[in-house]
Amino acid sequence: MGYFRENIEKAAGYQPGFQPRQANVVKLNTNENPYPPSPKVMKVLSEIGSEQLRRYPDPTGSAFREAAAEVNGIGPDYIMCCNGGDELLRIAFQAFCDENRPVAYPVPTYSLYPVLAELQNCKAIEIPFDNEFNLPAKLAASAAGLTVVCNPNAPNGSFINVDELASLADEARGVLLIDEAYVDFAEKNCTALVKDFDNVIILRSTSKGYSLAGLRFGYAIAQPDLIAGLVKVKDSYNVDVVAIAAATAAIRDQNYFQKTVEKVKAERTRLTGQLRNLGFDVPDSSANFILAECKNSKAVEVYKKLTQRNIFIRYFAYPELKDKLRITIGTAEQNDTLLLALKEILYEFG
Ligand SMILES: Cc1ncc(COP(=O)(O)O)c(C=O)c1O
Repeated sequence: MGYFRENIEKAAGYQPGFQPRQANVVKLNTNENPYPPSPKVMKVLSEIGSEQLRRYPDPTGSAFREAAAEVNGIGPDYIMCCNGGDELLRIAFQAFCDENRPVAYPVPTYSLYPVLAELQNCKAIEIPFDNEFNLPAKLAASAAGLTVVCNPNAPNGSFINVDELASLADEARGVLLIDEAYVDFAEKNCTALVKDFDNVIILRSTSKGYSLAGLRFGYAIAQPDLIAGLVKVKDSYNVDVVAIAAATAAIRDQNYFQKTVEKVKAERTRLTGQLRNLGFDVPDSSANFILAECKNSKAVEVYKKLTQRNIFIRYFAYPELKDKLRITIGTAEQNDTLLLALKEILYEFG
């Protein structure tokens, strides 16, 4: 008998994407933004003083909540800061799931959800998407304590319409968490749903659209009663003083944010087209990555050959994703390096 609870003992834990230590690589494997954060973020960071570090941070990150409230057109009491979107997921599983309250989500999706279910010791009801990644009708009937829908979905970038998620919120018996980690690259978002539904939580991240994956900052949007319950579950000082200052500067600089996002979207269109020309099957994506299908069933070999050239993309060893490669949208130069390497690799395969 080990020291750990039985479910922890059995759990494999989450496998984060590879983080190479060397700088001279083409890193398209963990959906970071290829452009730097706003210069205003760097200025704020350079101005952090010792007195700010000596004291504990504002426990609710009010400066960020006020800025995010303005950007989203809601009140600051609808917002809770968190240590990356991942922390909000952990908080939600802890708050709404246990042995008698399952979590439900469509699959394939973000591979952290089953890991959190295992750690929380709750049943995970996994309902497969159809081939077009439509919202499964059975999701609403699942009677889960927590339903999670990733929108845009990872790892394929598909987008479910706001109306369909409104219907799901209406029918769900428990809480609906809409994971909008990638929504900055989509045309629409679900913010408006929190006004109509007291069971909707929206997850946002500053890791993707705001180029701050290294900072660890995200936030929840929900009605104040739900936010108050989530606050009970978070660490008292879950976001640090440096992160609050930098994330606030980032979200206040909407001009820089919009320009960066537009550049990523333009490259997404170009990379999608070029990969299709090379023979890959690439569905349209609303995120900062694409899921490319290798029609020659050589996805693993392509992935390995790219890795040998210090070009990192993501391969998931799941049956439904076995012929597919997930590629983060890089800069034009990074994408060109990838395309050239792919041409050579496909040529070698004949
Ligand atoms: C679907 C999805 N949700 C949430 C997150 C969490 O993002 P972060 O913790 O960096 O804010 C990620 C990170 O990759 C993700 O892919």
